[in-house]
Amino acid sequence: MARKSTKTRRAKPAARRAAPAIDIGMSESDRAKIAKGLSHLLADSYTLYLMTHNFHWNVTGPDFNSLHLMFMTQYTEQWAALDIIAERIRALGHPAPGTYQEFVRLASIKEVQGQPNSKDMVRHLVAAQEATARTARKLFPLVDKANDEPTADVLTQRLDIHEKTAWMLRSLLE
Ligand SMILES: [Fe+2]
Repeated sequence: MARKSTKTRRAKPAARRAAPAIDIGMSESDRAKIAKGLSHLLADSYTLYLMTHNFHWNVTGPDFNSLHLMFMTQYTEQWAALDIIAERIRALGHPAPGTYQEFVRLASIKEVQGQPNSKDMVRHLVAAQEATARTARKLFPLVDKANDEPTADVLTQRLDIHEKTAWMLRSLLE
């Protein structure tokens, strides 16, 4: 009996130190599925970010100045979005992917090898912007079902920017 009461006394401080379980009115399974979908979105967003920055560095030709500056505006916005997506995953109780290995595995966008000409850079970016939009849109039914308004808000903002940027880039090719 004495040993049992010692154990109980020892267990109490440990229980007080442990972080409480997440209880935000969403099921564990919904949180896990949405975090997984957001991880795919983060991987596509990171791949798109890096592609845009790469093209900012390496664009050549008569459109150099306008494309160099346009790409800078785009990768700067994209960079800030990475943090918002990753931190939403954390708020849902899951680890955010943060290595190149994980991003390659999770992304639907393939990296561009070599240095395309400026028109092909724009074509690659249209495709990558649209792929990222598709990844975001795919998550909506699940997010709606789980009443996950903060994630819906993130997705709405990302869709708005990816669709608008795809239109602007595509206009350069028409
Ligand atoms: Fe620069």
